[in-house]
Amino acid sequence: MVATVKRLLLLLASMPAALPFKLTRRQIARGAAIAWTPFCVVKVVKALQSGGPTSPYGLAKRRTIFSAVAKEGLKVLELGVGENKNADLYPKRTSLVGLDARTPARPARQSSQLESYEFVLGAAEKLPFDDASFDAVVSTLCLCSVDDVEATILEVARVLKKNGRYGFVEHVAAEDGTLLDVQQRVLDPLQQRVANNCHLHRPIDRALLGATKKSGGPFTEVLEFEEYLDDDMWPVSKQVAGVLVR
Ligand SMILES: C[S@@+](CC[C@H](N)C(=O)[O-])C[C@H]1O[C@@H](n2cnc3c(N)ncnc32)[C@H](O)[C@@H]1O
Repeated sequence: MVATVKRLLLLLASMPAALPFKLTRRQIARGAAIAWTPFCVVKVVKALQSGGPTSPYGLAKRRTIFSAVAKEGLKVLELGVGENKNADLYPKRTSLVGLDARTPARPARQSSQLESYEFVLGAAEKLPFDDASFDAVVSTLCLCSVDDVEATILEVARVLKKNGRYGFVEHVAAEDGTLLDVQQRVLDPLQQRVANNCHLHRPIDRALLGATKKSGGPFTEVLEFEEYLDDDMWPVSKQVAGVLVR
């Protein structure tokens, strides 16, 4: 249905001369905007309901946290923790420290999985923790918003113990030349303004894959790395999930 509407609009826009009646460009643009509105409303509603436990993003978070925090009773740092929405995904008796640059608007989610939960106000680029103080670090949809991705990755490595794991699920820039690439580039300035510095078109995947010793970074190994699309989360549909080992 959406594809048909798209095709009709493209046809309409490309062949104004062939129509049996005269339309100005402005009228065509207005018509297209009106026809497009229900599609946009459906997209926004879907996006608001997205990220559920069985969505590609939800499943990627479950898999990643399961792999990064592989045992019960570990000390874990979550970056950009927000309202602690991932609380239930941690193994039993996890001592979780949640760091965020802003105090969340709503109270943090509590979970019986957690031994303890401590919220710390601070910047991911300059973590207020000692070297080698965590067994694992997790971030979900956080690197899009920090001021400096590379500095954040270095800080993650610094606070991890030897063999500690960094699990991430992040949205990244779409492949060059795709429709999503164009959409992200157009919407990016607006997104940064309305969504607290969230960058739609960041090559976060490159920064993460470049963080191993082989590429001059601090991590010894990429344990897991997957790319996937979660269409319901448009325009942040292109995502990566994985685990780096310190
Ligand atoms: C899109 S929200 C994701 C929240 C949560 N991780 C989740 O998955 O629901 C991004 C979070 O990163 C936080 N953030 C942005 N820049 C940050 C920084 N430099 N240091 C720490 N947290 C930051 C924001 O305040 C926000 O809570």
